[in-house]
Amino acid sequence: MADNVVRLPKGINIGVDYYPEHWDEALWVKDADMMRDAGVKLVRMGEFAWCRFEPEEGRFDFEWLDRAVRLFAERDIYVVLCTPTNTPPQWLFEKYPEIVQVDKWGRRIQTGIRGHRCLNSPVYRELSEKIIAYMAERYKDERYVVGYQIDNELESNHCRCDVCKSRFREWIEKKYGTVEEINKAYGNNVWSGEYSDFSQVMPPMNDNEKWLNPSLNLDFNRYASDSTCDYVKFQSDIIRKISPDKFITTNTWLCANMPDFYDMFENLDIVSFDNYPAHVLPEDDETLYSHAFHLDLMRGVKNKNFWIMEQLSGMIGSWGPMSRAIQPGMMEGYSLQAIAHGADAVIHFRWRTAVSGAEMYWQGIIDHSNVPGRRYKEFCELCSKVREIQELDGTVCRNRIAILYSSDNEYAFKNQHQAEEMHYFEQMKQWHDAFICLGLGVDIISQKEKLNGYRIIVAPTMFVENKETVSNIYDAAAKGATVILTNRSGERDYNNKCIMKQLPVAYSELTGIKVSEYEALPDGMQVLLKFSEETDIRSECALKSGLFGKRWCDIIEENDKVEVLARYDEQFYKGAPAVTRNKYGNGEVYYFGTMLNRDGSIDFARQMAVSQGLDIIEGLEKGVEVTYRYGDKTWRFIFNNTQKEQKAIVDEEEIVLKPFEMNITSLH
Ligand code: GAL
Repeated sequence: MADNVVRLPKGINIGVDYYPEHWDEALWVKDADMMRDAGVKLVRMGEFAWCRFEPEEGRFDFEWLDRAVRLFAERDIYVVLCTPTNTPPQWLFEKYPEIVQVDKWGRRIQTGIRGHRCLNSPVYRELSEKIIAYMAERYKDERYVVGYQIDNELESNHCRCDVCKSRFREWIEKKYGTVEEINKAYGNNVWSGEYSDFSQVMPPMNDNEKWLNPSLNLDFNRYASDSTCDYVKFQSDIIRKISPDKFITTNTWLCANMPDFYDMFENLDIVSFDNYPAHVLPEDDETLYSHAFHLDLMRGVKNKNFWIMEQLSGMIGSWGPMSRAIQPGMMEGYSLQAIAHGADAVIHFRWRTAVSGAEMYWQGIIDHSNVPGRRYKEFCELCSKVREIQELDGTVCRNRIAILYSSDNEYAFKNQHQAEEMHYFEQMKQWHDAFICLGLGVDIISQKEKLNGYRIIVAPTMFVENKETVSNIYDAAAKGATVILTNRSGERDYNNKCIMKQLPVAYSELTGIKVSEYEALPDGMQVLLKFSEETDIRSECALKSGLFGKRWCDIIEENDKVEVLARYDEQFYKGAPAVTRNKYGNGEVYYFGTMLNRDGSIDFARQMAVSQGLDIIEGLEKGVEVTYRYGDKTWRFIFNNTQKEQKAIVDEEEIVLKPFEMNITSLH
């Protein structure tokens, strides 16, 4: 990361995404006035406007953007500009058809949509470079333009055009050097898969991914992520060279083909995220839903405060049926929730609802009718609330619990589902939820991070081995941290092959256990568990839903070294250990052979937190979150992320919260 000093606007800011090219210029003035009056401090523009910036090759027209930027500058509103590369214009596709992305069936995809260009296409890169450089040059001295968003919601590059196929082969050849090496690494002796030349390496095509070697699939995903990161670097290098004092980010999201977040943001100044929490919250007790999980994941990408580049502002729809309306309080509550978890800016998608194009039913703040309504009023209230908490500027989140995330695990798990409805994120969410329920904050960080300072380290589903991570976890436990490991850990080597050792392989010494057999459970099946007699776990769950496991059962061998905390209470493995605890160095290592129910995991989380001396809050209702930001003062946030009124007793004070209400207090 270039340690250049970029200028971020001061304060905690609310903004909107604005598309001046969609509206008559006369409306811009009215919009800008309304934004200023509401308290908007940031506007993001330009994201999809390539055809207006460059109506024909080499003829640039940025005068209209100059006027829009001035309009906002005159009202003291800062501007984030986007590189418009997500939507090359029609003339460009017509002139250079080779830039259109090729899908996995080998077809060039439909133009006229968006994001449908090949990130590696030389001519696309050349034309992108010209327009980006032009833009950066034009606004380098405009102090109201504070930063750039690269492209829009980049996914891993899954293009299969000839250029991309060769890039993939080059990536493979660079990594393995010889075909003998790759054959060995992949275990290509199965199904006569041995390569005799690198030209035979193909990305997964059609719908055959599940029939291909998982080693190849994992490498393809790693390559696809690297390819997107390379593209991000290509763009950021152009901007930074011309305009080194403006920040650069890209707006990321949780999508089907996610690039590795840590790599993608390595060269960027801040993380920004498109934040669309659920409109309708699950009412049952078992469903794990907490939008805080996404926010903690984003803050953890750079372990720094971040921005929301798009924030939910209305009902969603267009390519799917329309959703329910966002409920009263949601707009303000979800924005403040993002701030509580470390966001310093929350930019709302979008100021006006589009009246044409595919997204006309994805609501902005102002409706089609052009009559400011309930959501506009709530938006104004949010802006005034945020005006009152400006002292938060410079404060940060700081937690003692970390959950480790790895894109390798995510890719490998997605490629070969281990059990029905068992997803990589599930056990991460389970533990996140359990600690949040106790009023504790959690960082979600890269598995490659050093773990110093964390008291509890949750390493769920450590599926694909990464030697550095293994050694960091051993180290942290030796120094006194509590570690959580779960089923499906130690399963694969770095190349995504199974290992001929008893599970959890690399984690056997740490956990002190060996798994003799396992079974995957169908969705909906539960296996009863019971706490073992000698356990010190305070069982609250027994009074509620009981203790049971789902998704997966590791049958753990009995031994004299580890404590058995819970056993299976049915099936042919009735009586076998299901949850164990081992002492390792100064730390304790818990192993969960099955995925516990919610109440059960909260019982274990409580035990770990108490023995690590963390201050827990008892009795919080599901969906009530307590978070802190620290600076000269400590700020406490209590959020009711539910659809009903809730009471919370925190620091001996009873606080009543309306649905989606946030209580913010500066403590000292
Ligand atoms: C985001 C995207 C926006 C808009 C929005 C609503 O994912 O970045 O451009 O499409 O979703 O659909």
